[in-house]
Amino acid sequence: MKDGDPMTATPANVVLKGLASVFAIAGAMLAAAAPAAAQANADAIKRGEYIFRAADCAPCHTDTKNKGALLAGGRALPTPFGTFYSPNITADPVNGIGKWSDGDFTRALREGVSPDGSHYFPVFPYTSFTLMTDQDIKDLKAYIFSLPTVALANKPHDIGFPFNLRFLQVGWKMLFFTEGVYKPDPAKSAEWNRGAYLTEALGHCAECHTPRNLLGGMDRSRWMAGSIDGPEGEMAPNITPHEATGIGEWDDIDLAYMLKTGAVPGGDVVGSLMAEVIRESTSKLTDADRTAMAKYLLSLPAVDHKIEKPR
Ligand code: HEC
Ligand code: HEC
Repeated sequence: MKDGDPMTATPANVVLKGLASVFAIAGAMLAAAAPAAAQANADAIKRGEYIFRAADCAPCHTDTKNKGALLAGGRALPTPFGTFYSPNITADPVNGIGKWSDGDFTRALREGVSPDGSHYFPVFPYTSFTLMTDQDIKDLKAYIFSLPTVALANKPHDIGFPFNLRFLQVGWKMLFFTEGVYKPDPAKSAEWNRGAYLTEALGHCAECHTPRNLLGGMDRSRWMAGSIDGPEGEMAPNITPHEATGIGEWDDIDLAYMLKTGAVPGGDVVGSLMAEVIRESTSKLTDADRTAMAKYLLSLPAVDHKIEKPR
């Protein structure tokens, strides 16, 4: 008997045959796993779309006024420090965030830090998004990466010295930023915690409705109590349940209905930036989520802070 005779069952041949069947089985398992992975990705994209709506990412990152493409950036965001232009956050590898890992994306939202280590300006409300769970951030990225890419270069911000110095953001963060995922309050109901998460982490309502100090930090003692110089110079009303200066006369049904339709008690309709929030974000949520948000907001401390209503 010669070595290497193909027809003979040497121990080596037996091992090879055994290996071949192992590979065949593994191959079959992989083929079965591929649709499962595709299904998992489709599920993530679906969950991510809801997060995308609840967090209202589209309006800031889309230059709707000039018919810009979805998430291609370039929307002007005037602030007391100058005009910022939102960046392209489509998955375009050159102009957008197509090369970012899940870790890069999480760090941007959680810490306000870019993949190259520089610090974002808080006009990007990472100050609220830091509260988002890892899972929601991952799902959100899956959804954004499922959208069409756009090859549009970013426009530089038009902000004056010294506000344009990114490294100064380190100091700003030390003063005004608390990093970390939302921690449910075990003393409160699941509905309250859901409302808090939707309002604070995703809806970032406080970013517009809380007054800011001269350095642009949110005043924690007047949370949601309104701002006379809100985004784009608009007045954002006091939405604490204060009877005279806030929405103390509304109940959760009024508030949930307003978040769905824009109609406020008394027959008026909200305008301006809030109309955009409702159109792009809160009107797309479930009734249960809007009710949870309404109940949460009405449970906050009432703050006496008169804002002249812009309407
Ligand atoms: C209020 C407007 C606003 C909202 C809302 C907003 N962004 Fe942004 N975003 C900005 C601005 C402005 C910047 C640029 C910040 C800077 O240059 O420091 C930015 C930066 C980013 C970056 C970094 C891009 C880069 O090239 O480094 C990412 C990623 C991002 N945003 C994703 C999101 C996501 C996801 C959402 C929704 C969860 C969101 N943004 C909501 C205004 C906004
Ligand atoms: C981009 C800034 C911005 C964000 C984000 C925002 N709002 Fe508003 N909101 C406004 C402005 C501006 C008005 C005043 C609208 C008007 O002129 O009719 C307003 C009005 C309101 C009113 C009506 C109050 C009244 O007395 O008539 C309520 C309630 C409200 N917002 C709740 C919310 C909630 C809840 C969220 C988070 C999901 C939110 N807002 C997010 C800017 C914002």
